[in-house]
Amino acid sequence: MKKIINLLAFCTLLVGCTNQYESNNIENNQMESNENKDVHSYADFSRANTTHIFLDLVADFDKKTLSGMAAHTIKNNKATEIIFDTKDLNITKVVTNDKGGEVEFTIGKEDEFKGSALTVAITPNTTRVEIYYSTNPSSEAVQWLSPQQTADKTHPFLFTQGEAILTRSWIPNQDSPGNKITYSAKIKVPDSLTAVMSANTISAKNGVFEFEMKQPIPSYLIALAIGKLDYKSLGDRSGVYAEPSMMKACYEEFEELEAMIDAAEKLYGPYAWEQYDVIVLPPSFPFGGMENPRLTFATPTIIAGDKSLTSLIAHELAHSWSGNLATNATWDDFWLNEGFTVYFERRIAEALYGRDYSEMLALLGFQDLTHTLADLPAEDTRLKLDLEGRSPDDGMSDIAYEKGYFMLRMIEEKVGREKFDSFLKTYFEYFKFKNLTTEEFLVYINEELPATQNMNLKDWIYKPGLPENCPVIISDKFTKVDEVRESKKFVQTPAVTKDWTTHEWLHFIRGIDTSWKLVDYTSADELFDFTNSTNSEIAAAWFEKSIRASYQPAYEALEAFLIKVGRRKFLTPLYRAMIETNKKSMAKNIYQKARPNYHFVSTNTMDALLEINQ
Ligand code: BES
Ligand code: ZN
Repeated sequence: MKKIINLLAFCTLLVGCTNQYESNNIENNQMESNENKDVHSYADFSRANTTHIFLDLVADFDKKTLSGMAAHTIKNNKATEIIFDTKDLNITKVVTNDKGGEVEFTIGKEDEFKGSALTVAITPNTTRVEIYYSTNPSSEAVQWLSPQQTADKTHPFLFTQGEAILTRSWIPNQDSPGNKITYSAKIKVPDSLTAVMSANTISAKNGVFEFEMKQPIPSYLIALAIGKLDYKSLGDRSGVYAEPSMMKACYEEFEELEAMIDAAEKLYGPYAWEQYDVIVLPPSFPFGGMENPRLTFATPTIIAGDKSLTSLIAHELAHSWSGNLATNATWDDFWLNEGFTVYFERRIAEALYGRDYSEMLALLGFQDLTHTLADLPAEDTRLKLDLEGRSPDDGMSDIAYEKGYFMLRMIEEKVGREKFDSFLKTYFEYFKFKNLTTEEFLVYINEELPATQNMNLKDWIYKPGLPENCPVIISDKFTKVDEVRESKKFVQTPAVTKDWTTHEWLHFIRGIDTSWKLVDYTSADELFDFTNSTNSEIAAAWFEKSIRASYQPAYEALEAFLIKVGRRKFLTPLYRAMIETNKKSMAKNIYQKARPNYHFVSTNTMDALLEINQ
């Protein structure tokens, strides 16, 4: 095979590499080496690993539990035990096919991040392990919402969030991206509710929904949502799920979805998952979007009414290649998922809306990166991380996204777009339904694009900060925005600003500095009405500046925003701005009202930020 050529020569170029290809059984969708072991999972795939999970669960909205069984089909390498990851689950019994009845199991000591190992006694003949269990209302992956917390306010709602290591809090499983599995499921829900998953719905009757995911995926992509949902098709292979009252707005916002899929395929090859739907969730969803296969989960805060925030959908769609086909082998390699996806997302945006538009996105990204580089300890600014003993969440910063993007863009600029595109296409094809480490990426790119050997990729990957060969982005559009902002003569500017896009407005607000006095805030707000913006990105950027400047007219809208929206990307800068400007009691006051509405992902971060012990 081509991939093994010159392996030794390449390995000497790498930091800490020891023959990654041989030790890493990528042909079997799974890592086998202990050296590459995922430090966030108890599982040992080399002895026994899951190849398929069948879930049979009942959703009880009164008790806030999912209960039933997870049946694992396993590949058994003459093992006498198999280890699963669990967190906060009630395991009642385990049955194996060869015993035909209950077998012994133990649940290990709980680690604050990893949860507990579930060790099941098996024999070399075991091929199926059934785990009977129920979740607790406190399951970290699952958020149970009351009708009041939804758009329609008529029915309860549930959604799960698996990435990075939360799937184990609703399914006992080998919860590592280093092992890919197929899955099927049977989910019973209360009357009048619909269940959807990151899989094909194969039947729906009498409140029982059956699903099948035929392509191998990592466990963090297993996802479930239940609610009063409508569906509307947007094209041959795309559509949107939303609560009835949200449907019209969602449908209009995502009008270009099919065109996005076409653009993505034209860039990097066929879409591998047949269908691409988006579900718009209630506002407590802690992320902007989550790339669950066949069904992106999305925050309603991207429904701006003018399609201006749909590059987020381009991002989640791009994950259908980067992340969902070619997957990071461990959370230390997270940049492989997100850096490639940001690059891909901006190429889709460029194809659809032009270069000026995608360059504005890139420059906003560079601003985020600059702030992150200033905020994080140096060791967390390397692309390849070392998260042993820490939460994978610690690695989920703009470093993976934006430093990753800028490294790939640097390569593109140096080798030329044509060569780089053909490299990426081959990369996705080669690692399709597999996973890879950063070291495997380096071996691969050194071989496929030898010119990259002189581009300091190792500095980008293993050293903190930003290497000198980082591309510089200039946006004429943003230069004009700077001029308007600096002139402070807003009354004369509507003729100039009337054609501004959301991204120009964001640049305008982000650039506000301490030279702005309260009168400047007042006059800008009177003219542009930022405080009441229905565009969540603009509102959030304005609120942050308002907090720092103590511009009180924005506080009421700020509080309403924080109580309604649970998207962590907005919450962190807003609560942090309050803390940093002596408004901690204001922050705590709002948080007390808002916290019941947030998902674990967000409360976990905000509790730490506000030093609250729950
Ligand atoms: N996969 C991520 C979300 C994620 C990351 C969940 C880490 C859990 C752990 C998703 O693709 C993402 O990056 N979402 C971004 C939007 C994007 C446009 C940068 C978000 O939620 O803001
Ligand atoms: Zn992403």
